[in-house]
Amino acid sequence: MNLHEAQQRHADLAAQIRAHDVSYYTLAKPTILDVEYDRLSRELIDLEKQFPALITPDSPSQRVGGQPLGEFKSVRHVLPMMSLDNTYSRGEVREFVNRVQKLLPNAALEWTVEPKIDGLAVSVRYENGVLATGATRGDGTTGDDITANLKTMRSLPLRLRGGDLPSVLEVRGEVYMPIAGFKKLNAEREAAGEELFANPRNSAAGSLKQLDPKIVALRPLEIILYGLGEVQWPGRAAHLPETQIALLEWLRALGFKTPEKPQLCSSVDALLEAIDALDAGRRKFAYETDGAVIKLNAFAPRETLGSTAKAPRWAIAYKYAPEQARTRLNGITVQVGRTGALTPVAELEPVFLAGSTISRATLHNEDELRRKDIRIGDLVVIEKAGEVIPAVVGVVADKRTGRETVFTFPKICPECGSTAARATGGSLDELGVVWRCVNPDCPAQVCGRIEHWCARGAMDIEGGGEVLSAQLVRAGMVHDVADLYLLDVFKLTSLERMGGKSAQNFIDALEVSKKRDLWRLVFGLGILHVGTGAAKALCKHFETLDDLMRADADTLQKVGDIGEVIAKSITSWFADPLHQKLIGKLRAAGLNFRSTTYQATPAAGVFAGKTFVLTGTLPTLKREEATALIEARGGKVSGSVSKKTDCVVAGAEAGSKLEKAQTLGIKILDEPQFLKLCGE
Ligand code: IVH
Repeated sequence: MNLHEAQQRHADLAAQIRAHDVSYYTLAKPTILDVEYDRLSRELIDLEKQFPALITPDSPSQRVGGQPLGEFKSVRHVLPMMSLDNTYSRGEVREFVNRVQKLLPNAALEWTVEPKIDGLAVSVRYENGVLATGATRGDGTTGDDITANLKTMRSLPLRLRGGDLPSVLEVRGEVYMPIAGFKKLNAEREAAGEELFANPRNSAAGSLKQLDPKIVALRPLEIILYGLGEVQWPGRAAHLPETQIALLEWLRALGFKTPEKPQLCSSVDALLEAIDALDAGRRKFAYETDGAVIKLNAFAPRETLGSTAKAPRWAIAYKYAPEQARTRLNGITVQVGRTGALTPVAELEPVFLAGSTISRATLHNEDELRRKDIRIGDLVVIEKAGEVIPAVVGVVADKRTGRETVFTFPKICPECGSTAARATGGSLDELGVVWRCVNPDCPAQVCGRIEHWCARGAMDIEGGGEVLSAQLVRAGMVHDVADLYLLDVFKLTSLERMGGKSAQNFIDALEVSKKRDLWRLVFGLGILHVGTGAAKALCKHFETLDDLMRADADTLQKVGDIGEVIAKSITSWFADPLHQKLIGKLRAAGLNFRSTTYQATPAAGVFAGKTFVLTGTLPTLKREEATALIEARGGKVSGSVSKKTDCVVAGAEAGSKLEKAQTLGIKILDEPQFLKLCGE
C-alpha cells in the first residue's frame, strides 16, 4: 500500500469509527458489533504504525495519549463559568418568573426545562472543528486543563461533524459517571480491596482529577453539553442558534450528547408541570439528576438580563427534595477531626440511598443527638442532599421496642484521652455546641492536619492521604507538617507496605511542594475559617508570609473577603508560639513564602472599580490579553452588558453586546483607544 492509498483507507476508517462512536455513545443506538468495532480500530492503529504521518490529533487513535502529567496547567475562561441560583420551592420558581417578566415587560417569555445532571461542569474548546482544550470550572475564572482526560470520553467528538463550523467554539456541559458504570467500577474496586467511591458524582470528580489519562480511560465517564462559551465565527455570527432549543439541536448535529427530554414551556404552570414530569421520569435516566434547570429559551433577552456576580438572571435550578431511607442505628462512634472537634457518627445497617450504599452518617454534635433523641438500636431516617455527607434526620419513634439505649457523649477525647471542652473558637453557629479535644498534639488532630496539608486543594502532595498520615504519626516520625520535610526514603521504607518507589515518589512530591504558591501554604496551615478563597485573597494583598504574619486585625480586614471573625482567627493563630515555631521550621525547610499572585494595591490602578465588557475580535489583542490589561489596572471584566458596565471594548463582528451598549449609552472603545487608555 502506498501513502496515498493508506491516506484514503485511513480517512475511511476514521469516518466509520467516528460515526459508530456517535451512534453508540451519543445516541445510545449501537450500529455495529463490538468485535467489528475493535477490528476497525486495530486496522486504523496498524495503518498509523506503518504510516506515522497519518496520526493527527483528532484521529480516533488519539483518545488515550501522552504521558501522565506532573500537574494540570491552568486555563483562564474567556467568559466566566457561572453557577446557578437554587431553590427547593415552587413558590420561588413563580417569583423568579415574575421577576424576569417585570424586567422584560413586553416579552412573551418561553422557558426550557432540562434535567440538572449531577456531575462536574466543564468547558470544551474547538478550533476549526477540532478539539483543542478542555477545562474544569475551577473558581469560574480559571480552571484546570483536563484536555487529555476529556479526550478519553467517547461521547465527546474529537472533531465536529459538518463543514460549516465556527473558527472557535467553546461548549459547556457536565461530565458524569452513569449509574451502571459507577456500580461496576465500585464492584471492581471492592474486589481489589480499594477504597470505594461514595456516589457517581464523587467518582466522576475523582476520575477527572487523575493526572494519567490511561487511568481516566478506564473510568466510565460521559459528557453532556448544554451551553456555549466563547464563539468566534467571522462573518457568520448570525448563523448561531438564537434559542436554547435550537442550540441543543445544533449541538446534537455537531455530534454532542445533550440533556434528555428538554421541555419548552410558555407559562409558569406549564413550567411547574414539566418540573414534576421530569421528577417522575428522572430515575429512569442513566445518570443521577438532582434537579431541573429552568432557562429562558431566547438568547437575546438573556443578554438584557445579564447576571449577578455568581449566576445568570435568566436561569434557576429547582432542586428536588433529597431522598431519604430508613435503617437501623447499630452504634455511635466519635470521630476526632483536624480541629479537634468530636463528631458523633452513626454506624448504620447498610442501606442503598440515591445511588450509593450508606453505612455511616453524621450526627453533627451532642445537642443535635439530644434534640432528636436518637438512641442506639433506633430505626432512623437518613437523608442525602447533594454534596452533603448523609445525615440522620430523625427517628421512627413508634417503632421503638424499649430496648434502645441512650448514648453518653464522652467528655474525654477517644483518641488521646485528653479532656474535651466545649468549643469557643468554632464558627458562630457551633459556638458552645461542639466538644473539642484540647490537646494540640492529639494524634487524630495531627493526622488531620497532615492530611489537610497534603490535600489537592492545599499543598497537593500526592500520596499524603489518610493512610500514610496515620502511619507517619503512629510511627512518631511526624508531629507537625514541617516534619514531613525531614523525611527520607530510608525512614519511609521502614513503614509497613511502603516500597522504595512509593517512598521516592512521596519525597519527590514533597520537594515539588516547596515551590507551591503561597496561598496553598496559607490554606494548608489549617487556620480556622481560612478557606481557599480567603487564602487567595490574602496572598493577593500581602507579598510575603512575613507581611501577613505582621498584619494586625484591622489591616487584615482591609482585604476584601476578610471580615472580623477571620481576621481574629488569623492573628490569634500567628500569635501562638507553637505556630511561630512551625513557621520557623517551614522556613528552614526552604518552603516558598512569597506570593506570585500579589498585586500592589490594584485599587490604585487607572481602572479601579470599573467594569469592562469585551466583544468581537480585536485586531491584535487576544481576549485574555485585554482582560489581563484591565485587571492589572484594577478593573473587572464582565460577560454581559448592563447598566453597571462602564466601558465596552469592541472589535470586528461585535454583535448584540455592542448594540446594547449603544442603546444604554455606554462608552465604547476600539482597540487603539483602549490601548491608549491603558498607557500602552
Ligand atoms: S446551565 C451559567 N444546565 O449545575 C450556568 N447547568 O448548580 C449555566 N448543571 O454549574 C449552567 N445540569 O455544572 C446548566 N442542564 C444543565 C445543567 C447544569 C447540571 C450544573 C452546572 C452548573 C451547576 C449549577
